[in-house]
Amino acid sequence: MIVTDSEKRISDICARWRVEGLSVGFVPTMGALHRGHLSLVEIAAASSDRVVVSIFVNPTQFGQGEDLDWYPRTLEEDCSSVESAGASAVFAPRADTVYPDDFSTGVHVTGISEGLCGAARPGHFDGVITVCAVLFGIVKPDLAVFGMKDAQQLAVIRRMVSDLRMGIEIVAAPVVRESDGLAMSSRNQYLSVEEREQACLISAGLEKALSLFRTGERNCEVLQKEFLAALKDAPLLRVQYVETVDPDTMLGVERVDKQVLLAVAVFAGKTRLIDNILIWSEV
Ligand code: PAJ
Repeated sequence: MIVTDSEKRISDICARWRVEGLSVGFVPTMGALHRGHLSLVEIAAASSDRVVVSIFVNPTQFGQGEDLDWYPRTLEEDCSSVESAGASAVFAPRADTVYPDDFSTGVHVTGISEGLCGAARPGHFDGVITVCAVLFGIVKPDLAVFGMKDAQQLAVIRRMVSDLRMGIEIVAAPVVRESDGLAMSSRNQYLSVEEREQACLISAGLEKALSLFRTGERNCEVLQKEFLAALKDAPLLRVQYVETVDPDTMLGVERVDKQVLLAVAVFAGKTRLIDNILIWSEV
């Protein structure tokens, strides 16, 4: 497997693959990889001839006082795990490669990026989609895989790719969870033992809301309350938002008449965790 921090090297390699008629799948990450990330690499490998994984802790998507400086960096382990998952190359650029001194462009998606995490983390999605636009420009993939864990990010990326006619197929990957239900996240390692114990109530609460829906409840406020009730005996958890939205537009929904995303952000101590569940049943 190729590991490089050179923009020219990775773009040359990808260009050569395309000339050879090989399709290129792409998985952008910030590293500290876990099984959730690796599932994306496996999905990309199943439908592309070559897979590129980028590992870049993107400074522009972190707000003031967030965890940019202590975000875990584990490049060596990451490279061996993505190789086993089927990657052909890792692109791990330096910040001054992605953002040279004269870098002057920002991509902004209106609407979809403004609620939920966009409201809680101003400027976050501008950083995310700008770096994805840069990485897409370097790799020029046929397909890119994003996790449903970050459902709003996925929707924002889809919008950008469609609006800017980037011609990249965006594939959604299901949320991968720990055995007690906690959604895997590079940030889970910040949790204390007590916070970790309580954090599993987040997914349990989402499941309870889904069960209530399956007994016939269609009122979104009642479903949100069901989620909140599951957290009431967890003093280390503090809900930042709980919202029911259309999964494509991220606009608020009051009744479940079609598939609805129940999306939450919860602080466990100082660590911000996000999770979501699709509320719907195939009848
Ligand atoms: P990062 O948090 O490293 O996540 C990289 C990809 O892995 C994202 O598509 C995310 O949704 C997916 N992912 C994370 N945890 C997952 C889980 N438990 N199950 C399934 N997929 C999961 O998201 C980012 O990095 C950045 O914003 C990035 C897109 C790389 C831009 O900097």
